[in-house]
Amino acid sequence: MEQVPRIRLDDVTMRFGGLDAVRNCSFDLPAGRITGLIGPNGAGKTTAFNVIAGLLSPTLGRVVLDGEDITDLPAYRRQEKGLSRTFQLAHEFGRMTVIENLMVAAKNDVGEGIVNAVFRPSRCLSQEREAYDKALKTLEFLEISQLAGEPAGNLSGGQKKLLELGRALMQEPKIMLLDEIGAGVNRTLLGKIADKIKQLNEESGYTFCLIEHDLDFVSRLCHGVIVMAQGELLMTGTVDEVRRDERVIEAYFGGGRYQDAS
Ligand SMILES: Nc1ncnc2c1ncn2[C@@H]1O[C@H](COP(=O)(O)OP(=O)(O)OP(=O)(O)O)[C@@H](O)[C@H]1O
Ligand SMILES: [Mg+2]
Repeated sequence: MEQVPRIRLDDVTMRFGGLDAVRNCSFDLPAGRITGLIGPNGAGKTTAFNVIAGLLSPTLGRVVLDGEDITDLPAYRRQEKGLSRTFQLAHEFGRMTVIENLMVAAKNDVGEGIVNAVFRPSRCLSQEREAYDKALKTLEFLEISQLAGEPAGNLSGGQKKLLELGRALMQEPKIMLLDEIGAGVNRTLLGKIADKIKQLNEESGYTFCLIEHDLDFVSRLCHGVIVMAQGELLMTGTVDEVRRDERVIEAYFGGGRYQDAS
């Protein structure tokens, strides 16, 4: 039986002034799979993520989630449906502690409005307690419990990426879009992040899409790869197929960045 794609980008164009950052692009992110999204700088990868996550409304085309057209849904409604993403530049709150950073990212059903705080204080408190417990579990899962009380601004680049992953996890996602989660992270920490992604995919069935320049990282994790170049879909295939493809090699060496394994 053919696998039902969780996310489908259907003929999407995202135009900024005279520039098509994404042009007539269609691809699937199949359910329960880890898909890599690669391509040289400026290929339109982050823009595609922003369209999927609802931070950008496409000029043309549709975004489909489990068969439902979500093109007009705001980002927070997509989050409620289980879509979570990390940003290319980690965006932690530097003066807040690591655990506080996780708690503010938690899914919040009751809301923190003044009405709830005044009239439903116990609901608010129990929700905060829940967020705290979940944050502790997330820290444990990421093996950074020792950093709980540390101001996030003091973390290393790699630790910030782990925190970024943690903040996305706090939203109890089903689909995670990770934008260069491995960039600037040392090998040891990168291995750890890869293990965590694998574990979440295998044990919890999360669907992932990773934007990554490091093809080693991609080949270690991804079931399939989507290649974009200059706003367009160049090809889809396995990591090996993509690595051997002349068009991909040309796209990278024709002015883009290429980081090979060696
Ligand atoms: N908000 C915006 N306004 C105008 N142009 C934009 C905007 N966002 C992106 N672009 C342009 O769209 C193109 C695609 O950018 P995008 O950030 O999606 O590329 P990318 O594949 O993520 O690149 P990188 O690997 O460098 O992160 C680039 O030419 C970029 O300058
Ligand atoms: Mg980008």
